Amino acid sequence: MSTPRVIGKATWRDDARVLLQFLHGRRSGADHGANLDAFYGPQADVYDRFRERLLQGRADLMQAMDFRAGQRVIDFGAGTGRHWLFVAPKLPQLARIDLVDLCTPLLEVARTRFAGHANVHAVRADAQVWAADEPADAAIFSYSLSMIPDWRAALANAVRQVRPGGLIGVVDFYTLPDQPPGPFKPLSKWNRAFWPRWFSHDGVMLRPEVPAALLEAGATVRLEQGLARLPYLPLVRAPWFFWIGRLPA
Ligand SMILES: C[S@@+](CC[C@H](N)C(=O)[O-])C[C@H]1O[C@@H](n2cnc3c(N)ncnc32)[C@H](O)[C@@H]1O
Repeated sequence: MSTPRVIGKATWRDDARVLLQFLHGRRSGADHGANLDAFYGPQADVYDRFRERLLQGRADLMQAMDFRAGQRVIDFGAGTGRHWLFVAPKLPQLARIDLVDLCTPLLEVARTRFAGHANVHAVRADAQVWAADEPADAAIFSYSLSMIPDWRAALANAVRQVRPGGLIGVVDFYTLPDQPPGPFKPLSKWNRAFWPRWFSHDGVMLRPEVPAALLEAGATVRLEQGLARLPYLPLVRAPWFFWIGRLPA
């Protein structure tokens, strides 16, 4: 079995291409899949190199999910699947990994990366409705819940696809209401006001209702909150979190 492809080194030309796409923003037409293709298509080959410095907490989430041999896992909004390299030695032991995403160019990167891994399946489908043939042991959303238009439908779908007692893991940028649901620690007023506006330009929607919905979906196994450095923006830090919850048995 081949080793999945790793990440190359970013050049300033790669970064410029990604930054241009960010400045341009993500279009918001009715066809969500087409909007994602248009946004990610021109940067798909360098997506991982830039996101390596932007999307914090993915390695921690993947380790903390504690995947076990024989398990089935669904990755909703998987993109290129880069985060699976954080647990690469476990990959061959898993029974099945479904990488579900609506963006064809990013899925193509995932297909190339995991060619030779017969248990990894890249599926072009909507996380809001895609159903597995058999119940999964776990589902994850890595920086994807904030990009899914009907995030409540996607979360409810994940809960439906995972067996009772299974795990849901989420890592993402986030915001909170001024009185956050425990055990979330509060965010400053500035963070709550600034980041939702900043990210919405690229179709990343920080919704203050997400943390409470997660806590309702499962019993908290692990929660971490942090502030991420952003490439080329040395003075600011964006709030990110990861949460793992266990569904009722
Ligand atoms: C910021 S990227 C994160 C990709 C990857 N999980 C990672 O950690 O690098 C968000 C991903 O969500 C996907 N996405 C957005 N809406 C979706 C939907 N309704 N169904 C499936 N995937 C979706 C996008 O195509 C994109 O790949």
